[in-house]
Amino acid sequence: MIEESKMGGGRFVVVFLLLALSTVSFCFADNVTYDHRALVINGKRRVLVSGSIHYPRSTPDMWPDLIQKSKQGGLDVIETYVFWNLHEPVRGQYNFEGRNDLVKFVKLVGEAGLYVHLRIGPYVCAEWNYGGFPIWLHFIPGIVLRSDNEPFKAEMQRFTAKIVDMMKQENLYASQGGPIILSQIENEYGNIDSAYPSAKTYINWAAKMAISLDTGVPWVMCQQSDAPDPIINTCNGFYCDQFTPNSNKKPKMWTENWSGWFSAFGDAVPYRPVEDLAFAVARFYQLGGTFQNYYMYHGGTNFGRTSGGPFITTTYDYDAPIDEYGLLRQPKWGHLKDVHKAIKLCEEAMLATDPKTTSLGSNMEATVYKTESGLCAAFLANWDTKKDANVNFNGNSYHLPAWSVNILPDCKNVVLNTAKINSVITLSKFISLPSKDDTSSGASFSGWSWINEPVGISSQSAFTKTGLLEQINTTADKSDYLWYSISIEMNQNEHLLKDGSGTVLHIDSLGHTLHAFINGKLVGSGKGSNGNRKVSIEVPVNLIKGSNKIDLLSLTVGLQNYGAYFDTLGAGITGPVQLKGSQNGSTIDLSSQKWTYQIGLRGEELDLSSGSTSLWVSQPALPTNQPLIWYKSTFDAPAGSSPVAIDFTGMGKGQAWVNGQSIGRYWPTNKASNGGCADSCNYRGSYSSNKCLRNCGKPTQQLYHVPRSWLQPSGNVLVLFEETGGNPNQISFATREVESLCSRISENHPLPVDMWTSDEEARKNAGPTLSLECPHPDQVISSIKFASFGTPRGTCGSFNHGQCSSKQALPVVQKACIGSRSCSIGVSISKFGDPCRGVTKSLAVEASCV
Ligand code: GAL
Repeated sequence: MIEESKMGGGRFVVVFLLLALSTVSFCFADNVTYDHRALVINGKRRVLVSGSIHYPRSTPDMWPDLIQKSKQGGLDVIETYVFWNLHEPVRGQYNFEGRNDLVKFVKLVGEAGLYVHLRIGPYVCAEWNYGGFPIWLHFIPGIVLRSDNEPFKAEMQRFTAKIVDMMKQENLYASQGGPIILSQIENEYGNIDSAYPSAKTYINWAAKMAISLDTGVPWVMCQQSDAPDPIINTCNGFYCDQFTPNSNKKPKMWTENWSGWFSAFGDAVPYRPVEDLAFAVARFYQLGGTFQNYYMYHGGTNFGRTSGGPFITTTYDYDAPIDEYGLLRQPKWGHLKDVHKAIKLCEEAMLATDPKTTSLGSNMEATVYKTESGLCAAFLANWDTKKDANVNFNGNSYHLPAWSVNILPDCKNVVLNTAKINSVITLSKFISLPSKDDTSSGASFSGWSWINEPVGISSQSAFTKTGLLEQINTTADKSDYLWYSISIEMNQNEHLLKDGSGTVLHIDSLGHTLHAFINGKLVGSGKGSNGNRKVSIEVPVNLIKGSNKIDLLSLTVGLQNYGAYFDTLGAGITGPVQLKGSQNGSTIDLSSQKWTYQIGLRGEELDLSSGSTSLWVSQPALPTNQPLIWYKSTFDAPAGSSPVAIDFTGMGKGQAWVNGQSIGRYWPTNKASNGGCADSCNYRGSYSSNKCLRNCGKPTQQLYHVPRSWLQPSGNVLVLFEETGGNPNQISFATREVESLCSRISENHPLPVDMWTSDEEARKNAGPTLSLECPHPDQVISSIKFASFGTPRGTCGSFNHGQCSSKQALPVVQKACIGSRSCSIGVSISKFGDPCRGVTKSLAVEASCV
């Protein structure tokens, strides 16, 4: 017996050891260092492609799919900021649950086989409320944020160490076998540091502090040309090809390649053409770069009150390769995927040696990575904004369109030109669901109930102070709303203002929006903008004899996130507030009188956003176009599994909650001005954030993402707080669907990157190829809406035949594609005949999938 049990124990030990070994084999520690060319992982230099996904801007439910789509798109690394104010809303009280579950996010990225760049900051900018700083920092006596200031440094170190420890405890650093290969401290401090007298000391301290945390992986500082060794200074911008790090021992790295740009309420919506983005990427790798990150790869949504600015929209779509709703934005995603593959075909040569660049003529250059052992990769660039060119390189001739790069993995054959897109194009659309009387879509509202929000002071916790208070110091950002309330007696002032008629109320506010009520009636409103957060209004008011109530509601729309001393800019009605009499020009200044203040709304105090309480009424008729009102309804989830949006057309401005979760601030009445938009934007030439704009004259944001995981099949509760007045009967649902699939390939497109070969024989039998693939694995191509071989015109969704078109296009494409998930067709006259000799022809196709 004894023997047996010993044996059993022995077996157990063996099994245990085997198990332990097998786990260890999944988490071999990676040794991450760098040299002048690249990050070096386990002794090997790496060309890395990275993309930003901020975990709280989507839901844990969406994460695996976003990460998978990133991997398929050719990313090696996911970059995320860490959002201090989410994780420590109250000093010492941490939150890492749900969308804040950083450890889970990092683990998911690791499990997908990708690396992580963890940008701890802890100042992050990011169009995030207060740049990611918890508001309580502001109230620490003597604190000066982002400077050589003991109280600040103590807090910054504590939080940074907390995050590093958390990652270490979970073995998430590459040095421990985890996915994190890189960390960032601070963020673009170099852009604004000249305003801080102690900048140099602070940045040296930050560097030392970070290094002392001993993560075992390199640290970076972005936009910090004096980043002390061994910290790598990296570049952020629309282009970083001309960037050089501050030491010839550090690699050339690009932490933010802006794939588009953010949007702000009241502004048009920026987009960045993929040809230009691809050009920027190729130029960077051409000129010696080895790490490049898309900011953003998936932008997502600013749920709750997380958006900064002020005036940053709830959507943070960013025109990123994966759209706000998690769908691929095509051809952006697909073309960049091809660019990544093309770069990776050059990786070995790129890493083996330093680049050598020579001129190919005016605004053109060739870069060669060539080793004695016979490796050779080349990039040919033409940055002329107008002129296409034919260039000679190594005895061969190459066509080089303006503002493009040819990539040659063997120094001879072109695998990709950044301006020639082989990827499919998709038309993604919001399909509106009828708002009423339609049960089939499963998205109708069951009728509305409401609660009026009182004008002025209604809370026990209201307080009185002499003079006008700055808002952020007063509310500590617990709410967007602050009431300023005062009563004035007109009898006493009659000698000044007669009986009050002809009086003008003048208000100056630091921002961001305000509403003025006299005796309970809304008399005027004002709003700032992304460019100018301040508000001034002058409104004629009718005062009555006796007591008059003046109630001013001041609102923040996300706190400032950028700039020197951004944290001290302030908001709210700091005055003056005056009553100007037009009769004799006299003025009563109310600024230094006694005001009564209320932080937040009664509805917030009562927690109406959850939908509970018995205060909701539905009789008499629904009040519409009334300011300050809470609305509630229930609805069934839209059928199917497509992403869901609420269309807030008909509403003014406010906040919305679905099943108690805030889907953010809505503001469909805030429209972009009319000028400056172009449907098709010339990608040639330097991009800037106001170069390519959409939505002129339209609401900056009309549709608001409701994550599927927040919905149950039926009985969902929508609560709105409407500030200015609207009609909830006009609210409707939409789902985001892929409507059409298109592609357009010319006879002189390079072969698809997957078909690339340097074998002469194989190349002879291959040519440009048009490929289509339905977005979902269970779909097939059901119809060909358009096919033309010749000189087709227009864009996806509006293709039409040009002067020259082959009759065979439609039947050939139908035969090759219908009924399959994907299809490929050679683009050549051998397939379609030649409808016009001597002219370069293209094949354009639009298809749909079911
Ligand atoms: C950068 C900053 C990012 C983000 C970006 C604009 O300057 O580092 O956090 O704000 O600009 O989207």
